[in-house]
Amino acid sequence: MAEFIPVPPFDLVVFGATGDLALRKLFPSLLHRYLDGQIPPQSRIIGAARTAMDTAAFRAMVHEARVKFAPNACVDEGKCAEFMAHLEYVQLDASAPAFDWAPLTQALKNSKDNVRIFYLSTAPSLFVTIAQRLGETGLATATSRIVLEKPIGRDLASSRAINDGVGEVFDESRTFRIDHYLGKETVQNLLVLRFANMLIEPIWSRATIDHVQITVAEELGVEGRADYYDKSGALRDMVQNHLLQLLCLVALEPPNSMDADAIRTEKLKVLSALRRVGAADAAQKTVRGQYRAGLIAGKPAPAYAEEVGRPSKTETFVAIKAEVDNWRWAGVPFYLRTGKRMSARRSEIVVQFKDTPVPIFGAGGAAPNKLVMRLQPDEGVHLWLNVKEPGPGGLRVKSVPLNLSFADAFTLRYPDAYERLLMDVVRGNLSLFMRRDEVDAAWGWADALLAAWDRAGGEPYGYAAGSNGPTQSALMMDRDARAWWDPE
Ligand code: BG6
Repeated sequence: MAEFIPVPPFDLVVFGATGDLALRKLFPSLLHRYLDGQIPPQSRIIGAARTAMDTAAFRAMVHEARVKFAPNACVDEGKCAEFMAHLEYVQLDASAPAFDWAPLTQALKNSKDNVRIFYLSTAPSLFVTIAQRLGETGLATATSRIVLEKPIGRDLASSRAINDGVGEVFDESRTFRIDHYLGKETVQNLLVLRFANMLIEPIWSRATIDHVQITVAEELGVEGRADYYDKSGALRDMVQNHLLQLLCLVALEPPNSMDADAIRTEKLKVLSALRRVGAADAAQKTVRGQYRAGLIAGKPAPAYAEEVGRPSKTETFVAIKAEVDNWRWAGVPFYLRTGKRMSARRSEIVVQFKDTPVPIFGAGGAAPNKLVMRLQPDEGVHLWLNVKEPGPGGLRVKSVPLNLSFADAFTLRYPDAYERLLMDVVRGNLSLFMRRDEVDAAWGWADALLAAWDRAGGEPYGYAAGSNGPTQSALMMDRDARAWWDPE
């Protein structure tokens, strides 16, 4: 049985409360936490958005989303109705002058003791305006917190402008920058796997590791987010944040505690050691792709250009050979790959070890060991070892996985990343949130690559929806005499 330690009572104001993220993820996550008894009854959840409606209509909207996105959550309908009673709605145009914010000021007037949180689930262009209005209206108290959804800007300059503007009202210790990958159970497990198992650390370096692959493949396309996505692309949408965060957790030095700053300082060191990819090597070390029409799970899927309704040069796939220039990782490439409309949804980190120094079982006798960490779906860890295939007739070496399937080992429901992250905001635990200097460093690296692509011109290579990306991505690995790990 899992134990849930209740968090302090809170008032959570969700800006953008009628948007996709809030309905699909935030409210269902809060519901789960409520059902597990983690949310104290004095807590309030206030949805704020421009749409004209009252609290009853808002509750109906959240209920509908719950039925759609968390259909199995409510075993006890009575408990779910109890949760709904904690929801309120305030109609608010976030960009309106301070005096138009009266309904929100009113809603929070008599609530002084609860932890106060403002969750900005809006376009990043509104972040500074909202933060400043919260300052002007006095809603931002000395202890209240702000949560910023990614993307924080679209490059280093715009991200700095956001962080500066928000920083005038909320200092760093009250600013929670979400990268929801850090809230995934299996991602947190990376730290446990590395630093709670003595046998891992001595082999975790260039002495034994040949290379690392990080793949985040999605079956989904742009799903009604064409406007945002077409201006963003896979590098900004996925690599600058999620994939770089995963790389950091694989590569960081052991922090001396689980303290937020100890971990974030180690991640920053990795980001600072990431070699920038310039115009001279972008063609060798990166591949951009864009999906064409194809088949996903046997069903026809349209081309990206058709989905966004115009020809576009935006990349929906990217593969990158990243290099971390420090003593531990010099000469060990980190191959990153992410794409939409790929053959299957699969997020995985593969650590491939070196060949044995002497092949006493003959050339090709033993395959290199691999530690495969499956983040989603079918969460688990698989260590590929070589064993003797049983039976007479010569000594045959076979590579087989030692499997740790989390579903078999633990019977608990896997909580959504947002469940953990939302409760961490209430607790004031910043460990799983990005510090400003991390975001800056990640944008610095991404900006250099975007500039290199700009200079090189050209277009992304096409790949069929339902494939593993353009063939050039396999060729990039070929050039290094390596191959992507794409199990059938
Ligand atoms: C988001 C991206 O941050 O992550 C989306 O903006 C992407 O484009 C999503 O689909 C993937 O998240 P998950 O949790 O489904 O792997």
